[in-house]
Amino acid sequence: QTKIRRNTVPMIAARKGGEPIVSLTSYHAHTAAIVDKYADFILVGDSLGMVMHGMDSTVGVPLDLMIMHGRAVVRGTQKALIVVDMPFGSYEESPGVAFRNAAKVMKETGCGAIKLEGGKRMAETIRFLTERGIPVMAHIGLTPQSSHVMGGFKTQGRDEDTWPAHIEDALAVAKAGAFAVVVEGVVEPLADEITAAVEIPTIGIGASKNCDGQILVLEDMLGLNEWTPKFVKVYGDLGPSIEKAVSDYAEEVRDRSFPGPEQVYK
Ligand code: KIV
Ligand code: NA
Repeated sequence: QTKIRRNTVPMIAARKGGEPIVSLTSYHAHTAAIVDKYADFILVGDSLGMVMHGMDSTVGVPLDLMIMHGRAVVRGTQKALIVVDMPFGSYEESPGVAFRNAAKVMKETGCGAIKLEGGKRMAETIRFLTERGIPVMAHIGLTPQSSHVMGGFKTQGRDEDTWPAHIEDALAVAKAGAFAVVVEGVVEPLADEITAAVEIPTIGIGASKNCDGQILVLEDMLGLNEWTPKFVKVYGDLGPSIEKAVSDYAEEVRDRSFPGPEQVYK
């Protein structure tokens, strides 16, 4: 029995300009096992606060929750690199605090890398972590943990005057040692400029087909959420199909046709 080797950070980093990197989020063992067959890396995103736990934003997500879901996804998978999001408040204060919390995430989940939000301002921390054995995926453009400062979830780069700052963010995280960078919610030509400017893979979400990879929130693309943003393509219809199963079950319980003869022990 040969052990399946997981995708590594250098394997993902080496995909710059090559075959597009496939990624989805996943928060539990059973969906992760399905995604694992097709994705190069799986992100345990802090979007789980909104998607799984009904929060209004990702700001309230605690570190322990990321660790619990991260562990479940690592257990459910064999092949994909697992990246776990650092939640708001767990890394911004200083490189030392970031290291302590990121090391805890890696030790307690078994993930292969962490992700954190921020460009230039996080460069020092990204360098501190990578030099000490923690691979970092960066995240620029629309950074949901800063939604209170940005005044909501707003597409970035509509004003061309803001482009240099975003490109500087991308260059800064790459120079600091990030192995890839998520580019979220930016106008397409800015995403293309960023992708052309940096030597690390860009992973787009609401960005551009020319990014080096793409990521979506699994529940969004499965049609499990009532509302989906413009950048999500809905590939499944889990919402309606779960509802149909639940309503069929309810009806059969009420008219006593469930359990039937096959479901009872004689
Ligand atoms: O939390 C998340 O799901 C993310 C992706 C959307 C990139 O950060
Ligand atoms: Na996130």
